[in-house]
Amino acid sequence: MVKEIKKIEDSAGSEIPTAKNREELEELRIKFLGREKGALTLILRSLKTLPDADKKRVGEEANKLRGVIEGLFAARTEELKRTETESILKKEWLDVTRPGKKGPHGHLHPVTLVRREVEKIFASMGFGVVEGPEVETEWYNFDALNIPVDHPARDMVDTFFLKNPKGKNQSPKLLLRTHTSPVQIRYMQKHNSPLRIIVPGRVYRYEATDASHDIQFQQVEGLMVDKNVSVANFKGVVLEFFKKLFGMNVEIRLRPSFFPFTEPSFEIDISCIACNKKGCSICKKTGWLEVMGAGMVHPKVFEAAGYAPGNQQGFAFGFGLDRVTMMKYKIPDIRLFHSGDIRFLKQF
Ligand code: DAH
Repeated sequence: MVKEIKKIEDSAGSEIPTAKNREELEELRIKFLGREKGALTLILRSLKTLPDADKKRVGEEANKLRGVIEGLFAARTEELKRTETESILKKEWLDVTRPGKKGPHGHLHPVTLVRREVEKIFASMGFGVVEGPEVETEWYNFDALNIPVDHPARDMVDTFFLKNPKGKNQSPKLLLRTHTSPVQIRYMQKHNSPLRIIVPGRVYRYEATDASHDIQFQQVEGLMVDKNVSVANFKGVVLEFFKKLFGMNVEIRLRPSFFPFTEPSFEIDISCIACNKKGCSICKKTGWLEVMGAGMVHPKVFEAAGYAPGNQQGFAFGFGLDRVTMMKYKIPDIRLFHSGDIRFLKQF
């Protein structure tokens, strides 16, 4: 029996301190101290079969060993706990002083970039930036601008008419503005001349889309009114604007045209920014690019805005911001602007 105890002591002394992990340690605990079949438990249980003389001695030995084994377990458990914590710390170590990963960054849309540039250039020439509503009345969008009732622009085919929230056939007749020109009227109703403003903003056209037409795009309206504003002033302002916008010595030319709200009216071309009038595919071999409509404000427009006749004159113009952005960045299709295609947007 004593031999047996010695054997247990030896194997416990070599196995417990080298247990690799807590599961192995638990297996050893069952092996030596397990309540059913633990080696030492069996010895303690068999004490009663021994003669009285041996009982005491063997019992003392066995109990001493129990204390020793428990001590070994406690020590190894401590050790394993420590190395476990150490390995977790090693594995999950984090250098909190390192710079973090950068998240993806958005940026301004190309049309917005150009819009801001346009605003800056006109601001440098004393023009204020004004906005107006995108939901307009038929009066501001058409009548006040001298666009007659039978004008084709009024057709359902070109204009998004809206339901009046008060019910069918109620006035005013609402629509999505087809141009930024109604803001001319809105502004002049509230401000007397002299005035100098530009009006950037969204406009809507009910038409088929293609590479150069979208149902929604942005325009910039311009309006300058004073006692003696002339076509020469207009040419000076607009030439300066395009030179600054395209960063080169462009030329402009005025062609006679027609708009109901200006008299006389012009179409403005700039010398082709791609070939400088030599003729290329961008200007369709003409050397010129059509960029804006303009003219001297029609007396009927002043009248609609409540200005006294004969006291002032002015010029007005309107151009497509998307179109100018396409020219500046050589973008071939207007529909790319609202495609949401990151590959396109990332280039700006
Ligand atoms: N409103 C016109 C359009 O949408 C552009 C325009 C032409 C505006 C001549 C003007 C102007 O102010 O004088 O096509």
